[in-house]
Amino acid sequence: MYTIRFSFIQMGIKPVALTNVEPGQTLLEIALKNDIELHHNCGGVCSCTTCHLYIEKGMEFIDAMEKREKDYLNRVIGRRANSRLGCQSLLLDDQGEIEILVPDQTLLPDEYYGEEF
Ligand code: FES
Repeated sequence: MYTIRFSFIQMGIKPVALTNVEPGQTLLEIALKNDIELHHNCGGVCSCTTCHLYIEKGMEFIDAMEKREKDYLNRVIGRRANSRLGCQSLLLDDQGEIEILVPDQTLLPDEYYGEEF
């Protein structure tokens, strides 16, 4: 089980702390189940970058990154060393604390993440 804290770059959104989160889910799934707004324009199949997140703590609890995710992350504006795609960030069968920073969802125009990729 995990404790996960979501914080938001976007002004005015209070952090959300989730407890007893089961492993085997992606961070996108967890966000959506808990009414946390996180774009997912491709439906969670690693074909956009709108589910981009920063893993501030607990990267060791998330499944290793595949080449496809790396390729898409290379297209993210504001990519950092701790960037991941929420739909590809599967929680390992373990327990601990994870801290997520959600980029400003108002700064992710659909047209930028559209067909050009
Ligand atoms: S939802 Fe499109 S890459 Fe994650």
